[in-house]
Amino acid sequence: MIKKAVESAIIEQIRREEHSSRLYLSMAIWCETNGFPGAAAFLYRQTEEERFHQLKFIHYVNDRGGKAVLMALDQPANDYTSLLDVFQKVMLHEEYVSASINELYEVTLIEKDYTTGNFIQWFITEQIEEESTMKTILDKISLVGDDKGGMFHIDKELAAMTAAAPAPGASATA
Ligand code: FEO
Repeated sequence: MIKKAVESAIIEQIRREEHSSRLYLSMAIWCETNGFPGAAAFLYRQTEEERFHQLKFIHYVNDRGGKAVLMALDQPANDYTSLLDVFQKVMLHEEYVSASINELYEVTLIEKDYTTGNFIQWFITEQIEEESTMKTILDKISLVGDDKGGMFHIDKELAAMTAAAPAPGASATA
């Protein structure tokens, strides 16, 4: 049976993953309506990825004798100034999620819940991959600056990347 402190920390993480999903959805909508169909496809897919993370936590808590609870969510921003702005915010958000996964791992250590700690390690690996992917994209966007041709090319690249991506949840090992 999962301890209350661990259950509560996971419930908070469920909220964060659900918020991440909606945040990327709002960004995908902005990209789709501002001439970046490739970035939109990429972010729609990230929305599904975050939904997958949320479900993974939900099933885990329920399977361990706890009960997942859904919380109220903040409204995500709906407007962005540029593609660079979008991906700067994605990067900041992923860094925040990585920090929160580390906090969650810390709770499992304090509570000596090594089974959950082991489960959380999947997310630690996942965050390394997500941060690395987002940094690569952000670096490319920063490099092209205001060059419209370069931006068009990056958008095409994001479309190709999305088409080649594995199903949500298949990116981290375990
Ligand atoms: Fe669920 Fe993008 O981390």
